Amino acid sequence: MLTFPKGFLWGAAASAPQTEGHALGGGKTATTWDKWFELNPEKFNNNQGPEVTSNVYEFYKEDIQRMKEIGMNSYRTSISWARLLPDGKTLNKEAVTFYRSYFQTLRENGIEPIINLFHFDMPWWLMEKGGWETRESVEAFAFYAETAFVEFGDLVKRWATFNEPLVHIECGYLYGFHYPAIVDFKKAIQVGYHTLMAHVKAVEAFRQGHFEGEIGIILNVTPTYAKSNEDRDMEAKNKADLLIIKSFLDPCVLGEVSKDLVELLKDNELIPTTIETDKEIIKHNRVDYIGINYYQPMRVKAPETSQVPAQTPADFFASYDWPEKRINPYRGWEIYPEALYDVAMMMKNDYNNIPWFVSENGMGVADEERFLDEKGMVQDDYRVDFMKEHLGQLYKGIQEGSSCFGYHTWTFVDCWSWLNGYRNRYGFYRVDLDNNLNRSLKKSGLWYKELSQHNGF
Ligand code: BG6
Repeated sequence: MLTFPKGFLWGAAASAPQTEGHALGGGKTATTWDKWFELNPEKFNNNQGPEVTSNVYEFYKEDIQRMKEIGMNSYRTSISWARLLPDGKTLNKEAVTFYRSYFQTLRENGIEPIINLFHFDMPWWLMEKGGWETRESVEAFAFYAETAFVEFGDLVKRWATFNEPLVHIECGYLYGFHYPAIVDFKKAIQVGYHTLMAHVKAVEAFRQGHFEGEIGIILNVTPTYAKSNEDRDMEAKNKADLLIIKSFLDPCVLGEVSKDLVELLKDNELIPTTIETDKEIIKHNRVDYIGINYYQPMRVKAPETSQVPAQTPADFFASYDWPEKRINPYRGWEIYPEALYDVAMMMKNDYNNIPWFVSENGMGVADEERFLDEKGMVQDDYRVDFMKEHLGQLYKGIQEGSSCFGYHTWTFVDCWSWLNGYRNRYGFYRVDLDNNLNRSLKKSGLWYKELSQHNGF
């Protein structure tokens, strides 16, 4: 039996745009996702857009009972910026009522709400001004953050500023999966810098307002492994670490952007525009905790050819196909639970053993109706095995002193996933798209209940 520390968080994560539905209802204005779907619906799997998701906006009360049913003691979701402040300034009373009732109901049922502020959902009004490319976005986000602290601070004691900031940077400005889907390394770095400053300014607003509780950030940490110990491969790994691991972890936890990262950007003419006082603000506004989303490692090697100044990250490192890898064929992601132990050790040794939790981990599988038994329950043993293996590695890290305080899966009920629509399912509950979005428990939900009841397995 592996027993986890007392008070360990067992729960799941989701986001406003992926679950709420009613994307243009209840006073909400459009985000880049709503607009992109309107402009290019063909980009989205089966033409599935953000208007109909698991529609938590109307079903949250029933869903919270379902969370309770499977033993969840915590739940992370986000607030929609475009719902709370439809034009960036005016408070939407209907949104306040909705979120207050949502968070209050969670608390009344013994489920701690962990509330995040940005999950890839840039409001369209701000995108039209340049989104994260403009410095204006920093102040706009800090205003939104402060508004959320004021409106919900009595109900929320654990805040997060961003979910996976690297994703909207990379997918929007390097790899084409998020709007505006352009390829521009220099812009990507500027967008990254403004995102960092928006985070820091939100932390500053939280501290200056003396709000009760903790504030952190959720990062996708993809540990990197080099093809070999040869210098060229190790250099590629180090550059990947700077861009992918240290870029946010260093300033958020240690209060300083890595000097090596600054050098690398300088050498490649990628230094973003900054303001003199930013350094001080970064230094004085560190987080209380870190959330780490872990799905897959990153295998890297030296690129065959590269340009200076670099035009894309591929000039720094190339991906390496590890012949021994296990793969989740539906998502195309490597399954490597051992990395979670390495992450635990990294947090302990390189980041002052700051409190952290696994804020997402999970397995997306397509066509899960194949696994329905005669009673209508998805027999997702693969998901239980996936969790067991990852928790085994996490346990080892905790035994060796890493300050991990919880484990959240992605996700609670199957949810909508950006361009992938409803292709891959991750939930403890299946959502039936052909039958009024009905929810039905999967086998993994039963297992999770036991896990939480025993605080281990
Ligand atoms: C995380 C995101 O990267 O992974 C979620 O925070 C996302 O928004 C999840 O849905 C699973 O990835 P995907 O692309 O299969 O939905």
